[in-house]
Amino acid sequence: MKRVLVVGGALLLGIGAVWADQNSVKEVQTLMKGNGKNAGAMSAIVKGEKPYDQATVDSALAQFEDTAKKLPNLFPASAKGVKLDGDYSPSPKVWEDKAGFDARIASFAKVVSEAKGKIKDMDSLKANFPAVGKECGGCHETFRVKNG
Ligand code: HEC
Repeated sequence: MKRVLVVGGALLLGIGAVWADQNSVKEVQTLMKGNGKNAGAMSAIVKGEKPYDQATVDSALAQFEDTAKKLPNLFPASAKGVKLDGDYSPSPKVWEDKAGFDARIASFAKVVSEAKGKIKDMDSLKANFPAVGKECGGCHETFRVKNG
């Protein structure tokens, strides 16, 4: 009886760990979807599809900053190989080249914080937004895989 309980407990712990890993990768996906929405809103302004709006810019940059702060803790070793339902999943390279991945996060954080004080109007948005977009693409190029 005692052994059954121990085995049952270990199983539960195992399930708990998988659940936590799924969750951390899911959280990355939620953050990234927010990034995508915010980057889209900024690029609509740059393209002239929407009027310049400081609140849109500020909340986008704040969300990017929040993402950069959270990313370092959202890829525990145990989450390697977790697949998501969406189009994009983290590449195994996130874990194989953790230093490279962390460097990408740091560089994203730096560019975002530099852009933060600088974007005040359409001209400064046009001047500073590409650098942010480059950080998104730079990380994706290596560390994101499109499924299917
Ligand atoms: C440090 C690396 C890194 C940076 C910087 C980064 N991303 Fe991502 N992004 C990823 C990874 C890894 C994925 C794969 C999905 C996952 O892990 O949840 C991803 C996925 C995405 C997705 C797809 C989400 C889905 O599943 O539908 C979007 C959209 C996205 N990123 C937008 C952005 C935008 C916009 C920026 C810049 C403002 C950005 N990302 C910056 C690493 C990064």
